[in-house]
Amino acid sequence: MILITGGAGYIGSHVALKLLENNQDIVIFDSLENSKLDIINTLKTIKNFEFVKGDLKNIKEVEYLFNNYRINAVMHFAAYIRVEESVKNPKKYYYNNLFGTLNLINMMIEHKVNKIIFSSTAAIYGKPKYIPIDENHPKNPINPYGKSKLMIEEILDDYEIAYGLKSIKLRYFNVAGADKQNRIGESHVPETHLIPNILKSIANPEKIFYLFGNDYKTHDGTCIRDYVNIEDLAEAHLSALNYLELNNKSDSFNIGTEKGSSVKEIFRTCEQITNKKIKVKISPRRKGDSGILIASNEKASKLLNWKPQRSLQDSIITAFNWIKKL
Ligand code: UFG
Repeated sequence: MILITGGAGYIGSHVALKLLENNQDIVIFDSLENSKLDIINTLKTIKNFEFVKGDLKNIKEVEYLFNNYRINAVMHFAAYIRVEESVKNPKKYYYNNLFGTLNLINMMIEHKVNKIIFSSTAAIYGKPKYIPIDENHPKNPINPYGKSKLMIEEILDDYEIAYGLKSIKLRYFNVAGADKQNRIGESHVPETHLIPNILKSIANPEKIFYLFGNDYKTHDGTCIRDYVNIEDLAEAHLSALNYLELNNKSDSFNIGTEKGSSVKEIFRTCEQITNKKIKVKISPRRKGDSGILIASNEKASKLLNWKPQRSLQDSIITAFNWIKKL
């Protein structure tokens, strides 16, 4: 069975859904600190599976998990993810993201589980030296969140040499959208991401949308990002596991669309799709934001046979359906 850490979270739950739809056996391990039991209950309507509530920082709970379930591969999503918070509170990020992962991979070695798909991020590259960013781009993360993810990538490489642990690192760019059937979606508290924040302002006219910085060196002055659909991203995980099982070889892949959209372009597209106007307030730049991030997905396309299938419009429509349901 496949262990999914953080399987009640935004990305983990969408990957779990795809695995369940593919009739795979899974066990979800989640502390529910930043997610809800409702998601687990919804996923169980697709196919039954095991859920263990626990924290990776607690070695006894991790031990219980590996002693009681026949795990043969791991998909590791459980982590803190807010860039700005990581700058203000690095202790929280290094302790949780590093210590939790060490407990997990040490237990994997002890139990001879040697396959892991790791949730990495475009944040490991830092300020881009060239666009689109490929996997060989220099890695200079500019915040503790990105640094914690890069450190784990490096630890995984050392563990491969010493203990034969095989890993695929998927470096996500900006993930957006929700399940097309509207069973699950994105619900961070507080919400910091662009598309849900814009859509929340549309759903609630009282809520002002704050645009962080219009003085970047881009065509319209606002930050450019590469928005990849959550279902496409989930499918990349299935391809990555397949690749690992077939080739028994560690590697890393960018997961993005090779298309950039500025913040202004995103909110205009949201206005067009919903046929509503947004109240925008231009605010100072947010700390740690890069002006532009666009992925090259050539490697994922060649080796994983993965290509994004869904458009930015699909992501916005499904995200809006989910927000209305919330
Ligand atoms: N933005 C706004 N207003 C908002 C929210 C965001 O103007 O209310 C802007 C940001 O300043 C940024 C862009 O919209 O320019 C995208 O911001 P997000 O918070 O949606 O995404 P980020 O690019 O900051 O971060 C995302 C993930 C991180 C990951 C990073 C990798 O959330 O986990 O991509 O680049 F590390």
